[in-house]
Amino acid sequence: MINPIGRRNQMESDAELIFKIKQLQKEKNAIVLAHYYQVPEIQDIADFVGDSLQLSQAASKTNADIIVFAGVHFMAETAKILSPDKKVLLPELNAGCSLADSCPPEAFRRFIEANPGHTVISYINCSAVVKTMSDVICTSSNAKTIVDSFPQNEQIIFAPDKNLGAYINSITGRSMMLWDGSCHVHNQLNDEKVIQLRVANPDAKLIAHPECRGPILALADFIGSTAALLEYTKRDSSRRYIVATEGGIIHQMKKASADKEFIVVPADETCSCNDCPFMKMNTIEKLYLCLKNETPEILIDHETIVKAGKPILKMLEISRAANLIK
Ligand code: 13P
Ligand code: SF4
Repeated sequence: MINPIGRRNQMESDAELIFKIKQLQKEKNAIVLAHYYQVPEIQDIADFVGDSLQLSQAASKTNADIIVFAGVHFMAETAKILSPDKKVLLPELNAGCSLADSCPPEAFRRFIEANPGHTVISYINCSAVVKTMSDVICTSSNAKTIVDSFPQNEQIIFAPDKNLGAYINSITGRSMMLWDGSCHVHNQLNDEKVIQLRVANPDAKLIAHPECRGPILALADFIGSTAALLEYTKRDSSRRYIVATEGGIIHQMKKASADKEFIVVPADETCSCNDCPFMKMNTIEKLYLCLKNETPEILIDHETIVKAGKPILKMLEISRAANLIK
């Protein structure tokens, strides 16, 4: 039982809550979408688990009346923009994103005005208002494809992640102007620690998310989005991996390859600094309450939905043309 202020009776198990969530989902025609960084219990109950690009596509295609977005605020906002007629719920409204927060809309507007003539490509980890100022959105899965869709001499502003932007510059030979933002989880991963792990585990491959800093990416055997890292560990022949990204993805990696070993960076048992505190705000209890009470709901005004929708739809169109999604 959950009392009116939302505290769970100690006797109520996750299994009971999961049963009730499943019932509510059927009654209300609701879909649960979860990012790979969610806690394992939420990933296991979700109808669909994916990275940012896959989740945007799932949100744009669903026939459900309610989307429960187990992720962070900008992801639920994107779902609402893509499915404005659906009710979009976020179990914890305070689940933000330090990367999105590193790009305040008014400062970004001034930056664009100070650099006229630039095409604006924004990483999906930004607010709806920043999306309205962008020509096209990208995720870590399709950033290179989106950038490559513009002529080599196009003047581009890339925001808000300077690490992803610098990485794309390095593999495309461009010099996009970068907004000085970063994700506090990936940006703090320590390259010295990575080097120590590589020396101690010479047989393990280093795989990294492009939100990590350049020195880590320079050491990596493979760089990719959350979904790409997972796919790599499925098809690659190595037995051991040093994983430089948020720890939530390890759940799916272990499920897919139970015989393989995954060493997270930092590999210090006492430190959970590679857990995204925002992603981890969602819990099974909050998911249950949010589906039961249909709150907190993501609400966005019509004008923002229309303006922010254009660059997201453009991203989906380019990704489809490049066969990144169906
Ligand atoms: P993905 O594109 O890999 O889902 O990245 C989302 C994210 O927030 C990474 O920190
Ligand atoms: Fe944002 Fe970083 Fe958390 Fe991803 S891991 S949601 S970029 S704070």
